[in-house]
Amino acid sequence: MHPGFRDQEIVLGVTGSIAAYKACELASRLKEAGAKVLPVLTRGGAEFVGAAALEGVTGRPVIRHMFDPAQNPEIEHIAVARRAALFLIAPASANILAKAAHGIADDWLTTTLLATRAPVLFAPAMNTQMYLHPATQANIALLQSRGARFVGPGEGNLACGEVGPGRLIDTPAILEAALCALSTDRSLAGRRVLITSGANHEPIDPVRFIGNRSSGKMGRAIVLEALRRGAEVTVVTGPHEAPLPHAAQVVRVDTAAQMHEAVEARFDACDIFIAAAAVADYRVESPETDKRKRQDSVYTLTLVPNADIAAAMGVRKRPGQIAVGFAAETRDFVAHAQDKLARKKLDLICANEVGTTDSGFGTDTHRAWLLTPGAEPLECGLIGKDDLAARIFDAIAPRLSAAGDAPAQTRLA
Ligand code: CTP
Repeated sequence: MHPGFRDQEIVLGVTGSIAAYKACELASRLKEAGAKVLPVLTRGGAEFVGAAALEGVTGRPVIRHMFDPAQNPEIEHIAVARRAALFLIAPASANILAKAAHGIADDWLTTTLLATRAPVLFAPAMNTQMYLHPATQANIALLQSRGARFVGPGEGNLACGEVGPGRLIDTPAILEAALCALSTDRSLAGRRVLITSGANHEPIDPVRFIGNRSSGKMGRAIVLEALRRGAEVTVVTGPHEAPLPHAAQVVRVDTAAQMHEAVEARFDACDIFIAAAAVADYRVESPETDKRKRQDSVYTLTLVPNADIAAAMGVRKRPGQIAVGFAAETRDFVAHAQDKLARKKLDLICANEVGTTDSGFGTDTHRAWLLTPGAEPLECGLIGKDDLAARIFDAIAPRLSAAGDAPAQTRLA
């Protein structure tokens, strides 16, 4: 469940593509995430997937025809056009793109697309040559110029035997794009957000490392929320389990030193820096170049400290640039976090409890407090990581506007 999907009505238009069978999985994931899915099958879509399957996963009757004898009130297309939060056309065939681009209204979906002012997101899926055809590309450009959004297509082996663009992009990428399309908050449009996420692996020898339990879930939630608010997002990530949103630029690293270098190279171009990684405080002084052989004697490693990336950026930031950190604590949460906030010269720190079953590494929730210089700590209680990410951006919003600074993109241009 993501708060951005909660109770949002999504019209899922399934059109004539072999990928239509994947729409059942998509509908099911949308429903699981909290959305209310209204399935619509075009004539072409119905050739590839059965209405019963879509009805089964969504729990709602499938809209098939403009003049349905069943007289279901949901078929009142103007009412649906008005109340839907999003039209998601997945898979979107070359035909639906052409019809939508030219305002043709010859079935329920195309007619309702003309009537709605809700955001429209297309996930194209078709043969590579059809996708690359100038007519299709021109239709896509026309739809984009009117504000329609696109996700994908992916590249790879297509059902028709060709290799190239045309595959329906993965379900998680469609879900993320739908989340962004549903968001009405564009407060970070034109802003660049740089985020560290995940764990670090500090090598002992070519096959062993010292690591930590970070799953990258908090980093993922922050990346997604920044994208939802319209930011351009770069994430420097160490090893992690949680998949990162497709729309972010991802820089993969292993060690804290690599993470530091990657952040330094990108820091000046960002407006907001958020240090969500569980950075390794130490590294092995002299990692072995060959795999260490087992011995029956004691093996002592000498660890030397790594640089504190958040503190280095806190010192380096220019006026108007915002730096946010986390304080992972097992006790005295607020006191330790106050100390880190001041010592690392941050604009906000999120203290969170680690080591319990509902808060910390790998969990979907945190017990958290938000601290800003000179203000009382804001206690968030036990909170979902997605909600916490939203609270963090809400808390820094006044600082961003108070800084009155031009976004980094404009300044660097
Ligand atoms: N951090 C960092 N570089 C480090 C250590 C931490 O950028 N070498 C960042 C983390 O990403 C986090 C914040 O600093 O935003 C605090 O991390 P935390 O592990 O809670 O604290 P430490 O500074 O490592 O202090 P301690 O381990 O003593 O609690």
